Amino acid sequence: MSEQAQENAAPVVNGEQNGESKDKEVTENGTTGETAEPVAETENEAPKKEMRAVVLTGFGGLKSVKILKKPEPTLNEGEVLIRVKACGLNFQDLMVRQGAIDSPPKCPFILGFECAGDVEQVGEGVEDFQVGDQVVALPEYRAWAELVAVPSKYVYKLPKGLSYLDAVTITMNYTVAYILLFEIGALTQGKSVLVHSVGGGVGQAVVQLAKTVPDVTIFGLCSKGKHDVLKEATSPIDHLLERGSDYVSEVRKISPDGVDIVLDCLCGEECNKGYNLLKPMGRYVLYGTSNVVTGETKGFFSAARCWWQVDKVSPLKLFDENKSLAGFNLRHLMYQQNGAAHVKQTVEKVFELFQGGKIKPLLDSTWALEDVVEAMQKMHDRKNVGKMILDPSLEPRPKPATPAKGKDKKKQSSEEKKESDEKKEDKKEEKKEKDEDKKEKEDKEAITNGTGEPAAEEAEKK
Ligand SMILES: NC(=O)c1ccc[n+]([C@@H]2O[C@H](COP(=O)([O-])OP(=O)(O)OC[C@H]3O[C@@H](n4cnc5c(N)ncnc54)[C@H](OP(=O)(O)O)[C@@H]3O)[C@@H](O)[C@H]2O)c1
Repeated sequence: MSEQAQENAAPVVNGEQNGESKDKEVTENGTTGETAEPVAETENEAPKKEMRAVVLTGFGGLKSVKILKKPEPTLNEGEVLIRVKACGLNFQDLMVRQGAIDSPPKCPFILGFECAGDVEQVGEGVEDFQVGDQVVALPEYRAWAELVAVPSKYVYKLPKGLSYLDAVTITMNYTVAYILLFEIGALTQGKSVLVHSVGGGVGQAVVQLAKTVPDVTIFGLCSKGKHDVLKEATSPIDHLLERGSDYVSEVRKISPDGVDIVLDCLCGEECNKGYNLLKPMGRYVLYGTSNVVTGETKGFFSAARCWWQVDKVSPLKLFDENKSLAGFNLRHLMYQQNGAAHVKQTVEKVFELFQGGKIKPLLDSTWALEDVVEAMQKMHDRKNVGKMILDPSLEPRPKPATPAKGKDKKKQSSEEKKESDEKKEDKKEEKKEKDEDKKEKEDKEAITNGTGEPAAEEAEKK
């Protein structure tokens, strides 16, 4: 928060009463819109200090994301307290907001998996960090706040020359890309890689890391609108293809045998296309399910569709065809499968590559915490090229002026209309998905029945 905004920020009454959250929303200039004397929970207790945080109040659309005053975190054994200077926005955060992720916490909770800043306190038992250390961290949620307490196993010291902004641009994305390419994909000289969403955070990391190996050919897919910017970017993509095009034929025209590595963050029918594009000895890695996201809120059928569109491949087929299938999920590895030490080692390798000048972080844009909704919208609209960052010290961008009193009603009703239009759109999208699913299912059944004909034609025949 800037000094000016800090001066404006009114003290707030402690938020929890009878278990109910009484957090106050922070207005554009950083105040809560109410003035109240800070009070202690009991008379003798000092008032709890508060901080700004991006809170998810319920799973769903952008309206559930709020900037609230929350009590500053207290430090547990084994944790460090970080004064946050920059936060990474990842596609995963959109999925969390929609509730399209496994075992999410109960709302309300503070969003965010990535932040960088200064160590302000060190908990009992922590030996490898000191107050004042500059660090980047990958906590399980709670990263998008002015302060966060993080178990030290998820915290990494910044090497010399790495700024907070660059640290959140590279840490998660390049660590994932490193594991995909070098630990799972076994990338070596002369091989080819196909990668989806090549203009995004992980996509750009894949390109830069793959190009550290001689003679690697990259097939990159993304929305057409990004092609010009990417052609000018420092890390060259050999063959830039359009998302949603017949990319399988395009790849085969250039490389009739297919590719050595497919990195798929979309899932659904891309899994089958990716597998079929593999050369013998090729490796397909699934590391995301972006296709589950269809609108602003969770599409109920898109997850199911993503699952049943994927061909179930037997190990015998892999044996016959000399192909490998793999999956990677950083969140599960770190927080559920005891993989924090493995990840720490990989982060260190990424930092070495940065120091050796092999990595040039590609930053799309920086946003104030208060502008998180606009930032998320930009990612939804597929407009980011590179990484998007939240910076708690930034002032929010000016918003359209509040209309005069008499016009309030009109504005409200137009907002209500917009909201109901959005709901209608979501419903339409849902119905479309349902119809598509039904049709696809019927077609599949027809094929399994041995008619080999789509359901509609079969029904007509009968
Ligand atoms: N397994 C792991 O541990 C791990 C870790 C980090 C990220 N990931 C995955 O890697 C992928 C990229 O993540 P990121 O954080 O670097 O984000 P990102 O690529 O910067 O995400 C934004 C881009 O995703 C693409 N996209 C694909 N499907 C979309 C949809 N349904 N709605 C909106 N945009 C969509 C869009 O680009 P185009 O339109 O150009 O394709 C968009 O610009 C995601 O699938 C994410 O879940 C996995």
